[in-house]
Amino acid sequence: MVIFNKINPVSEWVANQKKEGKSIGFVPTMGALHQGHLALVEQAGRENDLVVCSIFVNPIQFNNKEDLKKYPRTIESDLQKLDGAGCDVVFNPGTEEMYPAGHQSKTYDFGRLDKVMEGRFRPGHFNGVATVVKKLFDIVQPHRAYFGQKDFQQLQIVRSLVRKEKLDIQVIGCPTIREAGGLALSSRNTRLTESQRREASRIYQALEKAREMYPEFPVDQIKQQIIEVIDASTELELEYAEIVHPDTLLPVTRAGRNTSAVACVAAHAGKVRLIDNMYLNS
Ligand code: PAF
Repeated sequence: MVIFNKINPVSEWVANQKKEGKSIGFVPTMGALHQGHLALVEQAGRENDLVVCSIFVNPIQFNNKEDLKKYPRTIESDLQKLDGAGCDVVFNPGTEEMYPAGHQSKTYDFGRLDKVMEGRFRPGHFNGVATVVKKLFDIVQPHRAYFGQKDFQQLQIVRSLVRKEKLDIQVIGCPTIREAGGLALSSRNTRLTESQRREASRIYQALEKAREMYPEFPVDQIKQQIIEVIDASTELELEYAEIVHPDTLLPVTRAGRNTSAVACVAAHAGKVRLIDNMYLNS
């Protein structure tokens, strides 16, 4: 596995491989890797000749300074895990390399996509994500890029970015990987106490129940069920529960067998913010 810290060498390496006809799969990450990330790397490995993974904790997508400060940084074990998962190249730049002129987000117009759910509670977050993802795409120029469905709204924003910028990159959403109790894997889970971790699996239980209820029950009732299951926990504080169309992220008002819907939830367990989602009619 080759490790690059600078932009030009990694770009050149990829360009040379592409000249030789090799397909490139790309997995952008912020490190603190878990099985969810490794599943993306493994899928990229099955579908491409070579896999590039980036590790960069992007300061401009954190709207909360403490979250940025506490974000786990585990580069040595990340590199070991990537090597084991079959990654060929790691791009691990410093902040100076990515933002030589200082941290500045571009402002994108994603219409409604970045205004709802996460957008309401994390102002500027998606502009920060889109800015770094565009930079990384320009550097790596992959054929395919892999993102977890756990960050469902991010996935739709990245798809919109690729359409807007007319990039020749296939964006692939990969299934959420869960702990035995159902809690979606996240780098932030390492900051949960044992009791918070146990209680956090209620988010999954609420989503599963929502899936069972859809489309037989009215959307409001399904949403209410999610709220009640999460509110019943003393460890969790619900931020939002929405049932939306997967492409537009507009609220689904009427459940229907032919109406696609995704239930999305954000909740706090102490100072740790957790998000999760589930397709309701699949
Ligand atoms: O999902 C993440 O880890 C980050 O938002 C991403 C896509 C690597 C951009 O910093």
